Amino acid sequence: MKKYTDIHDIKNLSQTITEAIALKASPFKHKTLGTNKTLVMLFFNASLRTRLSTEKAAKNLGMDVICLQISNSWNLEFEDGTIMNLSTSEHIKEAAKVIAQYADIIAVRAFPTLKDREKDYAEIIMNSFTKYANVPVVNLESSTAHPLQALADAITINEFAATKKPKVVLSWAPHPKALPQSVANSFVTMMQELPVDFTITHPKGYELNTDITGDVHINYNQEEACKDADFVYVKNWSSYTNYGEILHQDADWMITQDKLNTAKFMHCLPVRRNVVVEDAVLDSENSLVIDQANNRTFAAQIVLKQILEQIDS
Ligand code: CP
Repeated sequence: MKKYTDIHDIKNLSQTITEAIALKASPFKHKTLGTNKTLVMLFFNASLRTRLSTEKAAKNLGMDVICLQISNSWNLEFEDGTIMNLSTSEHIKEAAKVIAQYADIIAVRAFPTLKDREKDYAEIIMNSFTKYANVPVVNLESSTAHPLQALADAITINEFAATKKPKVVLSWAPHPKALPQSVANSFVTMMQELPVDFTITHPKGYELNTDITGDVHINYNQEEACKDADFVYVKNWSSYTNYGEILHQDADWMITQDKLNTAKFMHCLPVRRNVVVEDAVLDSENSLVIDQANNRTFAAQIVLKQILEQIDS
């Protein structure tokens, strides 16, 4: 693997999921693969799971890890030809090349502005690192995608599926803040690559980018969509059409035990209790949120392993 900024960077998804599950059983099997190799992680935004699981994954492979919270560094400029006499101090052209001298792999987290859809969907930060750093880049959640989360989710579904073609539902849920579409986008992309019966449910107005959803079935009736589901993946996102807006709170879209019935509950975390989902669901045996978070390590580890193997080849 040359980079992991997009789910489609995975060459053989089914084999990658199988190998990730094998790594979970033997996490230190390849502990010399990353010897004398450094992962630099750059965070433009907050993180708990991504920060810790990716560092753990790299260390399981014997890598050294350096982590930089960008707010503690210089304010970077990403536009070409800008007269830099305002708030930005260093251009990505220099910064990416400098960081690449310290790193064998660079991993970046950079959320969207949710103000300018065209700019966010152009993925300027992630693409600039890919363009100017001459080392592989890993997406730790960008403006429009969270491919490591989606890989962890695919591993989790694979582990817990009781049938060959489980019914999976992605349900929108309310949230007081405007959130990115990244997790939903990557989950939708991933589900289209897996042998699942997949439906999306959300209130009208929360349609995702149709370039991503394609011909996936959308049901505007949440209870009907969730009926007989094996997995219900719950996530809030702000409007794509009225970009970045919260259209309404729709508290009745909160996930309850009644709606879930026997389905497994999935969420990427962090989650707001009794806003997105009621306590009874999160505290039940059908909640997979802790398993998903655990699988973040092995999703990151298989990605780093495949990149390290490519570097060494
Ligand atoms: N799910 C996820 O990416 O968690 P963090 O934002 O805590 O990294």
